[in-house]
Amino acid sequence: MQSAVHDDDSVIQIQRVSTRFGEHVVHDAIEFDVRRAEIFALVGGSGSGKSTLLREMILLRRPDSGSIRVLGVDLQTAGDEETLALRRRWGVMFQKGGLFGALTVIENIGLALREHTELEDGLIDEIAASKLALTGLAPEVGSQYPSELSGGMMKRASLARALALDPELLFLDEPTAGLDPDSAGGVDELVRRLRDLFGLTIVMITHDLDLLWQVADRVAVLAQGKVQGIGSMSELAHMDHPAIRQFFDGPRARAAQEAQRPDAQTDSGNRRTPSKPK
Ligand SMILES: Nc1ncnc2c1ncn2[C@@H]1O[C@H](COP(=O)(O)OP(=O)(O)O)[C@@H](O)[C@H]1O
Ligand SMILES: [Mg+2]
Repeated sequence: MQSAVHDDDSVIQIQRVSTRFGEHVVHDAIEFDVRRAEIFALVGGSGSGKSTLLREMILLRRPDSGSIRVLGVDLQTAGDEETLALRRRWGVMFQKGGLFGALTVIENIGLALREHTELEDGLIDEIAASKLALTGLAPEVGSQYPSELSGGMMKRASLARALALDPELLFLDEPTAGLDPDSAGGVDELVRRLRDLFGLTIVMITHDLDLLWQVADRVAVLAQGKVQGIGSMSELAHMDHPAIRQFFDGPRARAAQEAQRPDAQTDSGNRRTPSKPK
């Protein structure tokens, strides 16, 4: 049977994906596509199923029904060899960073290269160092251990690790969570630069309205098991669904939106909405 025809430009196709934990329906026939070289964001309240969907896109769990195609491969029917090849084509930055505490930063970045390639150690270190530089970290950071890094450095180091195999597709779970406004602003720029330089397709989960306004091409709002709205931030800003309104009508949302006005752009140093007061 022939499946539905999709835009050639889509890198991820999610069709009628449903996920339950016992009686709890987390995804109820979710559908959307992610296009090549776009920065795509998944948003939604806590518990709306964002991380679970991400895990399904990277083969860490299977939906109960529906289909997910990534880079042209149907995840449900792919064999071991195909999924191994696929894993080399994407990079993932997990919410908690996920670096191994017993390894230095440079060793962490080189890990995937050791696993997936036959490259010599010297070359692996060189590639790892270049990824470190790409994310804006100083060379000395390479010999540090994760416990010695600040939150912002940790995010950059995990991003460097996600880039080790030159992926076509990058998944980021909360790339700016827990960062101070300056570090978070650096991550915005970095994400955009990666897409512009390498044509990477980026899928990110985030609550960060500044990040969304600054870099997301399209945003999907998850609520009640469905995608309640999808589009650019300015398109979403005009939609009526309560889950979407909730996103735009809080005080932080208004501040981030305000910062979009052309006359507010120059004040980029203080642009970012302050995160939760400590
Ligand atoms: N392994 C699991 N077992 C049972 N329930 C889970 C499991 N993982 C997630 N859930 C539940 O599924 C819902 C969605 O979780 P999650 O995808 O982590 O949400 P989000 O990332 O949007 O905050 C939550 O109600 C969560 O408690
Ligand atoms: Mg989550």
